[in-house]
Amino acid sequence: MAEQVVTHDGEGGDDATRRDFIHIAAGAAAAGAGVMAAWPLINQMNPAADTLALSTVEFDMSKVQEGQQVVIQWQGKPVFVRYRTEREVQEAADTPLSDLKDPQTDAERVKEGHQQYLVVVGSCTHLGCVPTFGTGDFGGWFCPCHGSHYDTSGRIRKGPAPLNLAVPEYEYLSDTSIRIG
Ligand code: FES
Repeated sequence: MAEQVVTHDGEGGDDATRRDFIHIAAGAAAAGAGVMAAWPLINQMNPAADTLALSTVEFDMSKVQEGQQVVIQWQGKPVFVRYRTEREVQEAADTPLSDLKDPQTDAERVKEGHQQYLVVVGSCTHLGCVPTFGTGDFGGWFCPCHGSHYDTSGRIRKGPAPLNLAVPEYEYLSDTSIRIG
């Protein structure tokens, strides 16, 4: 399964590493069809350009470095796979539920034993824009369309979005491999 990885530098600033994004053309298997397809690169701000609607996608988590994010395509939607830093994990775990508009613990949003990896659908729960990482007030994502801020667990903290970034159904096939869908 050939994969092509392109790393984009972040927007600079004091913590550029955290803002790095990797756009990855990941090999994907169409469940049941037994065929392989190579994804084209995904433009993060225009994910609808490639909307092949495979029901499941497998992804090798070892492609993501700490502090980086990979965007993959699943059922026509961008999915953010983020390898969170220890600080991001701690911030998410330390947030009281009373501070949350859509209360959910961080533990509910990750898989046990893999809490460093957050997997969320990259679609703002307001009107569906694609949020960007590293520009919000809560260390996570910011949706520039109408100003929604998400934290390091992808939970909505400020702005018009009503719900947290959705966690898709996924499972670990091995220590480093997941299947979404
Ligand atoms: Fe994200 Fe409106 S679509 S804030």
